[in-house]
Parts: sequence; C-alpha cells; structure tokens
Amino acid sequence: MDRITTKDTPHHINETITVFGWIHTRRDHGKITFFDLRDRWGLLQIVATDQTNGPVKDIRPEYVVKLTGTIVKRPEKLINPGLVTGTVEMQAESIEVLNAAKTPPFEVDKDTSNVDEETRLKYRYLDLRSVRMTQHMINRHRVAQYIRGFLADRDFLEIDTPILTKSTPEGARDFIVPSRLQPGKFYALPQSPQQYKQLLMVAGLDRYFQLPRCFRDEDPRADRAYGEFTQLDLEMSFVTQEDILVLAEELFTTLVEKLFPEKRITTKPWPRLSHKEAMEKYGTDKPDLRNDKSNPNELAFAWTLDFPLFTEQTKEDFFHGSGGASFAPSHHMFTAPHPDDVPLLDTDPSKVRGLQHDMVLNGYEVGGGSIRIHQAEVQQKIFNLIGFSKEQSASFNHMLEAFTYGVPPHGGIAPGFDRLLMVLAGEQSIREIIPFPAIASGATAVLDAPAPISDEQLKDAHIAVRLSQTSR
Ligand code: AMO
Repeated sequence: MDRITTKDTPHHINETITVFGWIHTRRDHGKITFFDLRDRWGLLQIVATDQTNGPVKDIRPEYVVKLTGTIVKRPEKLINPGLVTGTVEMQAESIEVLNAAKTPPFEVDKDTSNVDEETRLKYRYLDLRSVRMTQHMINRHRVAQYIRGFLADRDFLEIDTPILTKSTPEGARDFIVPSRLQPGKFYALPQSPQQYKQLLMVAGLDRYFQLPRCFRDEDPRADRAYGEFTQLDLEMSFVTQEDILVLAEELFTTLVEKLFPEKRITTKPWPRLSHKEAMEKYGTDKPDLRNDKSNPNELAFAWTLDFPLFTEQTKEDFFHGSGGASFAPSHHMFTAPHPDDVPLLDTDPSKVRGLQHDMVLNGYEVGGGSIRIHQAEVQQKIFNLIGFSKEQSASFNHMLEAFTYGVPPHGGIAPGFDRLLMVLAGEQSIREIIPFPAIASGATAVLDAPAPISDEQLKDAHIAVRLSQTSR
C-alpha cells in the first residue's frame, strides 16, 4: 500500500501522496476546512476546500479517513515549530471515510489526566490515542529495546519462565488457577521469576534476563500496580554485589543519557547509603536526593545497602500462616546473609545484615535484588528462622535439591519496569504507564474482569463456589 505516515510527509513536498489516520480536530473557515490528521507518529494539517472530493462537511473528529492530496510548504508565518510536520500541509484532493466514529466520552485531542479514571480505563483504547498516553507507550517500547540491546551486548540471554507455576513468595498473596487435570490442585501465578532465575544459574545459563510479568494480589498504591506489573529481571553467576551495582548503574545511566537527554542525573556515580545511614539521616530507606524537587528533569538515583536480613514478623506478614516466628525476611528468603554475620544466625539473627541492594530514584524504590544463598544448609536455617513448618520447607525441596548439584554463587536484581517509567515520565500514578491497568477494585481496563464463569467451566475446574457472609 502506498501509505505515507505523517512524520514522512515533509520528504514529499509537491508530491501527491496518500495518508491514513484519524481526524484529530476540524476548524471551519468559510470555504476552507482545516483538519488535523492524526496517526501514531503525529499530526498533519489538511486543507480541504469545495474542490476536495468526498464528504468534507460530514467529517467529524475521530473519523478514520484516507486522504489523497499534495504536500506543500506552509507560508513562513504559518510554520508550527511544535510539530514534526509543522513546515508542511496537505492540499486535499479527496477524502474517504473508512469508518465513522461516535463522539468519544472524553476529548482525546487534549491531555486526559483530569478525566475520571474509571471512564478512561473503560475506554482505554481512546485514552491511548491522546498524545501523552501514546508517548508513554512509545517510551515503554524504546526503554525495553534499549535494555534488550544493552544486555545482549553484554552476553545476557533473554529466557522466559512459566506463568502457570507454584507459589513464589515475594510477600504478597498469590493469584491461583485451578487445575482441570489434577482435581483440587492449583497453580499460582508467579510474583516474580525468583526461583526460576536461580535455577537457570544452576543450569549454567549465566547472565539471564527477561521482562517478566509479575502477579501480586496486594492493595494498589500510586506507585504499585494491582494484579500485574512488569520487571526487568536479571541474574548472574560468579558475581559480587559490586558487579551487580555497576552493571545496573551503567545500564540506567546510559539509558537516561541516550533516551532522555533532557534529564540530568543529580550525582554520578550514584550515592550509596547503608540502611542504617539512610534511616538515621532521612528517616526512610528510599530517600529523595534531588537538589530541586520541583525540577521535572532531575533524576536522583541512589543505592541502599546493608539491610538487616530480617524484619520483625507481623501477623499480616508474608507467609500468611507460618505464624509464631519472630522473623520475616526483609527482602525475600533467598537473600544471602553478609558472610561476616553468618555466625549471628545462631546467636542474634536480628543483627544479621543481608546482601540486599535497593535501587532508589527520586524517593521511589525502583528496584531490588541481592546475592543469593547457594548453600542448602544456610537456606534451611533461614526457613527455620522465619518459622516455616515442615510442609512449607518441603514445598521448596526443589531448591534445596538443586543446591546439591553444583550451584554457582549468584545474584541479581529486578528493577520495576513500570515504576521506573513512571518516575522517568514524571507521572504520579503507575497506571499512566501501563497500557491496560487494573483499578483499585481489581477490575481490569476495558474487558471487565474478574467475571463469573459458566457452570460448565466451574465443573471442568472442579470448583464449587460458596460465598462467605463477608463476600456476599
Ligand atoms: P521486589 O519484590 O523488591 O523483588 O520487586 C522488585 C521491584 O519490582 C517493582 N514492584 C512493583 N512495581 C509495580 N507494581 C507492583 N505491585 C510492584 N511490586 C514490586 C518495584 C520493586 O523494587 N525477585 C525479587 C528481585 C530480586 O531479588 O532479584 C523481587 O521481585 O520497583
């Protein structure tokens, strides 16, 4: 098809070409009608007259059209420097309506941030037409591509891991999926690929990464998506914590410099704070170290290190059900204790530091990782300290067993892809960055899940539904 996209129109001056897209705006000036035509790449001004073939008078915003006409230079004083196509316009010879459109429930030619969120999510496909939201989607792609290129250049392998799996404890509730073939049994959706990436290290597939979807049933917050979100998950063998910090720092520093040249990183190399220092100095383990918090282009990265390996276990904690123990992992239970502190596991576990690293940006925790335990006996000790029952420990036997077959020392990190993009874009809510996010009630965008299923499906899944008093 001889289609020219809006961004390429300045290369076709005095040529007759065909463009496709949506009518963004229309302005009537007597005999002349101006349209802005929109496609993914931008806007093109169209000039239609009574010489233009087609239903010019009937065409309204959001109609999908095919336009043929001549690209001409705009007169000097009508040049719009804000548009890629600002030096040109199309003199339309013909306009064809490919699809008419109802008036949208909100104006997509304007910034939609003040439109009611439920409406925006119900009509997310319209919301995503707005310039700001389209730009977020383009940035998602560009950042993902940059990460892939950077890591591939450094010999990382992109490997995917299962979605239908077993509980992968990261501190939230699991989403569960009933098994049809094994009545009464359930899969859990992964809260992260933590165990699989460690098993990939046992497999010798050193330097793994993926951009996995992670599933967590926890209360949403402005910076925490409900249900699912994306990480950059990576893992390496035979590394020190320093190697991981250096790699992540180079990745994100160069990413910002290449893709967001208008941004400035406050301090390079990134400041490193011990957990104790951060708490004493800033009262938080994710301090906002910007010099000027009102500057949208300032990015203050930092590392928080030397976390205590354990926090005090609360009733609500982790492992709903382990109960009774004094300790919960402050990151997750695969994080290695600082080698100097291993003896304290037997005497004073609360004093043990973990080889955990948190990546902080403008006051947000944008990533977390650690050097992992790779000795079965240390792992078992941690299970005991966090109050695992025999059955709970047994459900991780595959890890303990893998550790008996030659496991390399290993470690990694998982920056939150959506959260990072949220901060880079200067957005206050992570839902702005996710193509089809869920809202606080757990309802999803456009498709209206969760939904009841048929009796037939319930039967297949061996499920009988009995709502408790509180959920009715
Ligand atoms: P953690 O649980 O700290 O570590 O998660 C890593 C990063 O993922 C992001 N994140 C989220 N982003 C959006 N919505 C959420 N609900 C959400 N939850 C977490 C955060 C966080 O820093 N397996 C380990 C990583 C590792 O040890 O390598 C893990 O998942 O930016």
